[in-house]
Amino acid sequence: MKNKLTLLLLLFFCSHGISAKVMKTMNEPDSAYLFAYATDKNTHHNGLHFAWSIDGWNTWYAIGPEHRFLGSDYGTWGPQKRMLDPVVFQDKDGLWRCLFSVNEKDGVVANASSADLINWRPQSYPILTTAGNCGAIEVGYSTPKDEYCISWVSKTGTQQGVYGTTTKDFHSFTPVIELRDELYRINQRVRLLVDGKYQTGTIHKVSWQTIDELIKAHKMADYKRILHSEKMADDPTRFASLKPVQASITINPEQSKSISDMLIGIFFEDINYAADGGLYAELVQNRDFEYDPSDKKGSDPQWNSTKAWSLQGDAAAFTIDTINPIHANNPHYALLHVERVGAALVNEGFDGIPVKAGDKYIFSLFARNPQGKGGEVRVRVIDAQGKSCGEATVKCTSSTWKKQEVVITATRTATNATLELMPQSTGTLHFDMISLFPQKTFKGHRNGLRPDLAQTLADMKPRFIRFPGGCVAHGDGLDNMYRWKNTIGALEARKPQRNIWNYHQTAGLGYFEYFQFCEDIGAEPLPVLPAGVPCQNSSHGGHGQQCGIPMSEMQDYIQEVLDLIEWANGDAKSTWGKKRAEAGHPKPFNLKYIGIGNEDLISDVFEERYAMICKAVQAKYPEMIIIGTVGPFYEGSDYEEGWRIATELGLQMVDEHYYESPGWYIHNQQYYDRYDRSKPKVYLGEYAAHLPGRPSNIETSLAEALHLANVERNGDVVSLTSYAPLLAKEGNTQWTPDLIYFNNTEVKPTVDYYVQMLYGQNAGDTYIPSRMSLSDQSSAVTKRMVTSVVRDSRTGDYIVKMVNLLPVAVKTKLDLKPLGALAAEATYTVLSGRPNDKLAKPVTGTVSISDTLEGEVPAYSFCVLRVKSLR
Ligand code: AHR
Repeated sequence: MKNKLTLLLLLFFCSHGISAKVMKTMNEPDSAYLFAYATDKNTHHNGLHFAWSIDGWNTWYAIGPEHRFLGSDYGTWGPQKRMLDPVVFQDKDGLWRCLFSVNEKDGVVANASSADLINWRPQSYPILTTAGNCGAIEVGYSTPKDEYCISWVSKTGTQQGVYGTTTKDFHSFTPVIELRDELYRINQRVRLLVDGKYQTGTIHKVSWQTIDELIKAHKMADYKRILHSEKMADDPTRFASLKPVQASITINPEQSKSISDMLIGIFFEDINYAADGGLYAELVQNRDFEYDPSDKKGSDPQWNSTKAWSLQGDAAAFTIDTINPIHANNPHYALLHVERVGAALVNEGFDGIPVKAGDKYIFSLFARNPQGKGGEVRVRVIDAQGKSCGEATVKCTSSTWKKQEVVITATRTATNATLELMPQSTGTLHFDMISLFPQKTFKGHRNGLRPDLAQTLADMKPRFIRFPGGCVAHGDGLDNMYRWKNTIGALEARKPQRNIWNYHQTAGLGYFEYFQFCEDIGAEPLPVLPAGVPCQNSSHGGHGQQCGIPMSEMQDYIQEVLDLIEWANGDAKSTWGKKRAEAGHPKPFNLKYIGIGNEDLISDVFEERYAMICKAVQAKYPEMIIIGTVGPFYEGSDYEEGWRIATELGLQMVDEHYYESPGWYIHNQQYYDRYDRSKPKVYLGEYAAHLPGRPSNIETSLAEALHLANVERNGDVVSLTSYAPLLAKEGNTQWTPDLIYFNNTEVKPTVDYYVQMLYGQNAGDTYIPSRMSLSDQSSAVTKRMVTSVVRDSRTGDYIVKMVNLLPVAVKTKLDLKPLGALAAEATYTVLSGRPNDKLAKPVTGTVSISDTLEGEVPAYSFCVLRVKSLR
């Protein structure tokens, strides 16, 4: 084997000749030299660069500076996503390939390919060895063998030295062997001075056209960057000479088309304390004593089983034990040993416990009394001044785990109370699942949701709810994937786990509660399950990258996916339908949609597992609408590959994600107009307009309103949308901006929320084309004034939406005649403000209707006009 590899290395191939058709002007060369390299700037995060030279020797011109033609998506954000020592070469078929190292410790040979050096895909990160790293990668090709040999230098682990493998396709690789004589390695890399610094990389002679295309790609990227960074703050300059603008709008019902009546939904993810301490109404933090240092990757010494608990008083001990727990999924419990009555175990809640005078709270716990003596425990809710806000007594006399429950009526209101458990006799007691739950939950469900937050979501009139994420769905490493079966059934038997956003999930808000909430507000459930791979940005478990469920376990995993459908839709006598019935819902939930994967890296590991899952669901439940995944961006390798696979698999829909600047939305208004209608439909599952480092304001909300107007026009190809993320608890955020902020007692919808709400409340199922003629036809103006007209067949109402991103009011003349007989009065709603306004709220009113409606759309506003048809 060694000799074979040696031979292969000696057969290292040089760059191929120049095959591209040369399209050049007279004074350009036929060919030039291209240098492919990565700099060490930004700790190797800047990816693949190119520089060109006419003589290939003295002078090199960077196509940049620091322009990234290919980035690394390996591992977690921050320390990973690095590219070291790239080797670029043309394979035997003329396809460009780039192989690179990802860090100094992992045995990974990253590789991607490209026909034009501009568009690279897919990105693949095969782990070739776990015994060393793959540094200074070199590659060769054997014509007689028709295979490539890859060699590298390993400086870590047990495999130190020069190692290699062979491959025919860069998907499968022969076992790694040691190459004992480094002399056989042919060094493809050279060192050149680019931008005043020596860089290491590979040189190729290419057509001038190839270089020209690279330069143009860089210029285009720059141009887009400038467009997309346009801000309203520049409007005074941009529109310095803007004259008053008039618009006349005509509506053309003859060309109406059906659109999705499900366009506005919500994306729920347990991020920013959206679930525990948020929508899930439990008031006790760490009720199960399962907080673990690993929840926060060990960064917080206080974060353990005792988090949020404290012992008050002397002559007592509070410890954590794991002997004979209530359930194996819930192994930790509290042991309270009291030698003098007066000591108490106290919980601080999530930023305090809020209670309201007159409201009832269900206190419950599991207790065990090993000595069988005493056992009376006084339970009190105490405000910040030490006054009791309500109390009760429970008797914990059983020597085995037993649940106790009592209702406490609050006698006073407090925002920052604590919960105190004070044994009334000396001795030892064991406690677990200590809960204080408001009786007033959304729709009065036990183990339910915070009513004010749930109602705010319901007010959006969402047609579906996606859950449980986001990244929470695919998780931080294989062991952290969200497994739905761990989240149903008795609370004490559910399996809590680390939250990828670095805190803890109790799973108290689990699949049953999600489905129930959907039913409560008339929204379709849309669960998203992992595609057999965890998040590509994983920092935990696995090898620091995506990895996948071992093939030997995939059938079990696929069964788990199929079981969810039976649990949701099966007969109450079926194995899983029975569990749903036992939880209190004998009727099926009528699940129609299932998401597989969440913006995953589309690698070989992913594709294999994803296809297995999708095919199994298609075979057993052909009526199920499977939503595939197409990466985290609106373009690029994962987007392209995701679309390819979804189309090949015949999936009904794909889940697109993009968080972009307001300028992106302004300059990409035809994004969906170009989509092939015969391909899968689109679920725009995560999106928002972001101003770097700034919260949502009128500028972001109008960009989103504009985008949704464009989406409505394309409602025949876009079926569902959901803004992300949804909820954020003040002081506990991992992501900004979010749609709705809250604290323990207040809900604070953002301006972006009102846009979602207005679209949700004013949805239609027919799109009616309209034409707007503006007095100023410059593209800066026409791109900033957009209309969408829809009809809601349930009510017969016509809805006209107008978005004005201009700094001036637009006088409008709306010709309503083509809509036929209309009610004499219409309602209107206007959301407007200065670009930086974060507190604007919609204002509603009525207006008299005639054949032509003349009015004014205020500067920086979103207006909705709703009128009844009399036909
Ligand atoms: O919405 C926040 C995060 O953004 C989601 O968890 C993830 O899917 C995306 O990257």
